[in-house]
Amino acid sequence: MTTKTAAITAVGGYVPEHVLTNADLAQMVDTSDEWIVSRTGIKERRILKPTSLGTSFMAIKAAQNLLDKNKLDPTQIDLVIVATATPDMPVSSTAAYVATEIGATNAFAYDLQGACSGFLFGMSAASSHISSGRCSNVLLIGADTMSSIIDYTNRTTCVIFGDGAGAVLFEPNDEGLGLQDEVLRVDGNGRTYLKIDAGGSMLPASNETVTEKQHFLRQEGRPVFKFAVSYMSSAITKVLERNQLAKDDIDFVVAHQANKRILDAISNHLDLKSDQMLINIDRYGNTTAATLPLLLWDYEHLLKKNQKLLFTAFGGGFTWGASYLTWAYNS
Ligand code: UT7
Repeated sequence: MTTKTAAITAVGGYVPEHVLTNADLAQMVDTSDEWIVSRTGIKERRILKPTSLGTSFMAIKAAQNLLDKNKLDPTQIDLVIVATATPDMPVSSTAAYVATEIGATNAFAYDLQGACSGFLFGMSAASSHISSGRCSNVLLIGADTMSSIIDYTNRTTCVIFGDGAGAVLFEPNDEGLGLQDEVLRVDGNGRTYLKIDAGGSMLPASNETVTEKQHFLRQEGRPVFKFAVSYMSSAITKVLERNQLAKDDIDFVVAHQANKRILDAISNHLDLKSDQMLINIDRYGNTTAATLPLLLWDYEHLLKKNQKLLFTAFGGGFTWGASYLTWAYNS
């Protein structure tokens, strides 16, 4: 029987050259390498300079990396989705600009705002566009310039986040490989814990909002930490049960890189082996919508056809979920 699933067939990525180390941050705020490493697992993060290059700059670089590596023709792309919480501009579509710049002249494009779960939700959207038969080549990019919304005088947020972009191509697969199942959820009450207060329709920009630093990301770290562990663990458990999978059946867990202690807590909860959890938070920090594709970019060399991958993410909104995907190629 031929099943038209949507599989990832190519991966690309980009991180800016500028490295912001824990030692650099200790010069800027009252923190230390010891605190940051022990509480988050982060050693350094990349920062886009100048910020005015915008998120599209990194998204375009990641997409071009994917196209060049795989010698792909951008005119074959039907759809470009850019998952981001930091679009170039509040109104004009970042995805539209990215599509045009990479030469995807036959594509439509849209931005997807799911905060740190944006890429996970984008996998669902990309897969649906393919399974329905409407699209054959969907380019999904996760990209965020977190440095554009971080207050570098606030030690509770500035040590965590970094900038980056990752891209994947989804294509139909006749062998049934690709996205198999997903549990995606939201809880709108979570927005009290993780948000930017101003700049949206509820509190438009004014001199006061700038003075009060209300355009920067605010987070209540402890409750967000607890929700993240509990919701990602329960979404993963549901996906495993629904697909009659034991934890040892999973080759790799591709989890949002928010805090190494969150990853450890999920690993403990599920009793995973240390080599099942892919990790790169030490080098990039939390890049929001880019963490999942940047893991694929870094670890593509380990991935083999038919391997079973579990994706999970949690972010502002709250948004969260888990997806089960079988890998479709040997790199
Ligand atoms: O990706 C979107 C979802 N986001 C997340 O999943 C993030 C979840 N939360 C976290 O990762 C952690 O809560 C943080 C890394 C944000 C904070 O770590 P924590 O262990 O929860 O620290 P805390 O907020 O409970 O603060 C403990 C202490 C406080 O001092 P007092 O009040 O005990 O004296 C903080 O002021 O650590 C202090 N602190 C710092 N000290 C040195 C907070 N940030 C820093 C810092 N350097 N950078």
